[in-house]
Amino acid sequence: MRFDILTIFPTAFSYLNKGIIDKAQKKGKLDINIWDIREFSKDKHKKVDDKPYGGGVGMILKVQPIHDCLVSIGVFPKRDEKTAIVLMQPGGEIWTQQKATEFRNKFNRIVIICGHYQGVDGRVSEYLVDYEISIGEYVLSGGELPAMVLVDSISRLVDGVLGNKLSISGEPYLNNIVKSAPIYTTPRNFLLANGLVCSVPEVLLSGHHKNIENWKRSNTQNSNNTSVQNLDKTD
Ligand SMILES: C[S@@+](CC[C@H](N)C(=O)[O-])C[C@H]1O[C@@H](n2cnc3c(N)ncnc32)[C@H](O)[C@@H]1O
Repeated sequence: MRFDILTIFPTAFSYLNKGIIDKAQKKGKLDINIWDIREFSKDKHKKVDDKPYGGGVGMILKVQPIHDCLVSIGVFPKRDEKTAIVLMQPGGEIWTQQKATEFRNKFNRIVIICGHYQGVDGRVSEYLVDYEISIGEYVLSGGELPAMVLVDSISRLVDGVLGNKLSISGEPYLNNIVKSAPIYTTPRNFLLANGLVCSVPEVLLSGHHKNIENWKRSNTQNSNNTSVQNLDKTD
């Protein structure tokens, strides 16, 4: 899977050079390219924003550097059907696990435009992009965090990115599960600063596989807020 991210803050993406996303890039499963929108500005001071026509507060990211970047990376005016161009937008379609799966299945190249300031010139969404996506009903100061949310949520669905296929099999939001059973590791008992000792549920230490499985099922909830009876046996 290839990602191209257009941003005015390229250094914000160092997160993508850590952990499984970094490993997946080194294994050739992901190809993540960060493009500095400023490099495409025709302004002699590399300015990428200007005041809004018609008045109003704040500055707007200009259409020209974004357009020229898309042309330069070969996704405008033509792109193949396996490529999607996405604008991060607080008022866009809300991102979900289902959409992440849909994108993973439909596309092999995803171009993401990160807005900033008061937003992006309206001609970008009108003429240049296929999707406007929001990561939630709140406003962030830039599209960089939202872009990383997309990259991470799609990448972990790409074959070979997670070391163990089972890692995603029992996750919430897959199979209508919204809350998976709590999980624990060492130590068995932990002393909190308020004097309470919190312990791992006994059943998980019992070695009794049937009881453990039942406990996991009854502590896993689906979207109707009921516990799940048919958990995947491999979980
Ligand atoms: C301060 S916001 C712009 C807010 C603008 N007034 C609006 O309502 O669209 C700057 C940029 O951050 C990004 N952004 C902010 N919140 C977001 C969200 N919830 N989901 C996706 N992108 C978001 C967008 O790229 C946006 O252009």
